[in-house]
Amino acid sequence: MSTPITPLLSEQEIRARVTALAAEIAPHLQPGTVIVALLKGAFVFAADLLRELSRHVPEINLDFMVLSSYGNDTRSSGRVMIKLDCQQLVENQDVLLLDDILDSGNTLTFAMEHMRLKGALRVYSCVLLDKPSRRQTPFSADFVGFTIPDLFVVGYGIDYAERYRELPYIGYLAD
Ligand code: IMP
Ligand code: MG
Repeated sequence: MSTPITPLLSEQEIRARVTALAAEIAPHLQPGTVIVALLKGAFVFAADLLRELSRHVPEINLDFMVLSSYGNDTRSSGRVMIKLDCQQLVENQDVLLLDDILDSGNTLTFAMEHMRLKGALRVYSCVLLDKPSRRQTPFSADFVGFTIPDLFVVGYGIDYAERYRELPYIGYLAD
């Protein structure tokens, strides 16, 4: 039997916020900025944000990275591993990291440091959802879509044990 999903953010709310977020971010993107989206969770957000950014910025350089710290659990293990590194050279370039959710802060803290070690100039971070109450590592993202309470959310690319990524809205799993 499938777990009931309680709606939290509708398709329309997400679309309007992603459009506004692109307008906020665009003035910070220099030519050559590399956008690095963290897979798999950020893939839908990245696709929508990129198309919105293309209304403001002519050439967008996109890459992906796969990091893992969760396994199939709902809590961060605190240990971040690189499963797939980005392929583009980021040395002397600005980088904009995109993630679906900022939760414990471990993933983005690791990813920011990783980009700096690769020689990136400035590293910005952007998350669709921020759960500030769950931080284990102090971290604030430069750009945030929505700040949400401590709920385990799914949909719009975000999964629970690889399910629900296909939902066009974001909802949370009832206990
Ligand atoms: P952090 O390292 O704890 O900040 O983890 C961020 C990552 O954990 C996100 O990219 C998600 O993949 C995953 N995550 C955190 N909260 C949730 C949630 O509510 N639903 C699904 N995945 C989550
Ligand atoms: Mg993730």
